[in-house]
Amino acid sequence: MKVTVIGAGTMGRGIAQVFAQAGNDVILTDVYPKALENAAGEILKSLGKLHSKGVIQDSPETVQKRIIFTGDLSQGKNSEIYIEAVLERFEVKSDLYKKLNDLAGDDSIIASNTSSISINALSSVIRKPENFIGLHFFNPVPIMKLVEIIKGERTDPNVVKKSLDIVKQLGKVPVTSNDFPGFISNRILMPLIREAILTLEEGVSTKEDIDQTLKLGMNHPMGPLELADFIGLDVVQDIMKVLYEEFGNSRFMPPITLRNLVNARKLGRKSGEGFYKY
Ligand code: 3HC
Repeated sequence: MKVTVIGAGTMGRGIAQVFAQAGNDVILTDVYPKALENAAGEILKSLGKLHSKGVIQDSPETVQKRIIFTGDLSQGKNSEIYIEAVLERFEVKSDLYKKLNDLAGDDSIIASNTSSISINALSSVIRKPENFIGLHFFNPVPIMKLVEIIKGERTDPNVVKKSLDIVKQLGKVPVTSNDFPGFISNRILMPLIREAILTLEEGVSTKEDIDQTLKLGMNHPMGPLELADFIGLDVVQDIMKVLYEEFGNSRFMPPITLRNLVNARKLGRKSGEGFYKY
């Protein structure tokens, strides 16, 4: 199957990798050459780890060769599926979809990896909205088993069925959600992270003990503050803003501490500091 992934950031490169691991021909494209260069290095590193543990049989180089890294989106012509993993901004995504409308065939699926933007809203700029769907992967994509499949009002049931098959072909486990703000995952995760931040703000305990409680008391692999740093505090804030705006409910309101950290560009792991220092 020919697959085009647009956006070579953390999510896009992970998605390209898992499609290549499953034997597909992948075009990974980005407007920034540096992002493509980084993606090639990170994918090879990740494949090396998985190969050394026997998770994948093919050599990292063999899998890597299935991916074409290119700035030229037109190389993705006639892909069976396009997966968009660009910036979480409606205008950025819709500008890209206008280009995909010319490139995609009548039966091509166009999927967005959006974590919180409405699939119905995004589908309004797609030439064939019945072929549009949400495929929400989780970071780190090569490790996390889940893919959330989001059905829009106009998504063809056949496209849902094909997407379920594609996700299973990747060795992942799909869950399906209707198009509600935050779908299943972020609707539940964001209030957890928010409450952990408020627990810290109100002086109930230290960040270490808040995280330890969820790790050892509830068997979460990371505590909520550590997880927020891992996701990126700007990303967390953006998702909370969408949920707060769309539900109009204070249980999603971004806390002041989060706002202050983001404004100070303390964005978590990627910037070297967030709730913790790295
Ligand atoms: N590729 C290959 N292997 C990887 C990898 C990658 N990208 N990332 C981690 N690994 C491997 C490591 O090499 C390590 O292997 P080892 O056990 O053989 O040494 C193993 O995974 C575990 O990694 P670490 O030892 O570095 O650390 P952890 O044991 O803490 O595991 C983790 C790391 C898998 C990230 C784990 O902490 C975890 O599951 N954390 C929660 C992640 C999570 O919740 N993600 C979802 C975020 S929400 C999201 O993405 C949605 C969005 O909309 C917000």
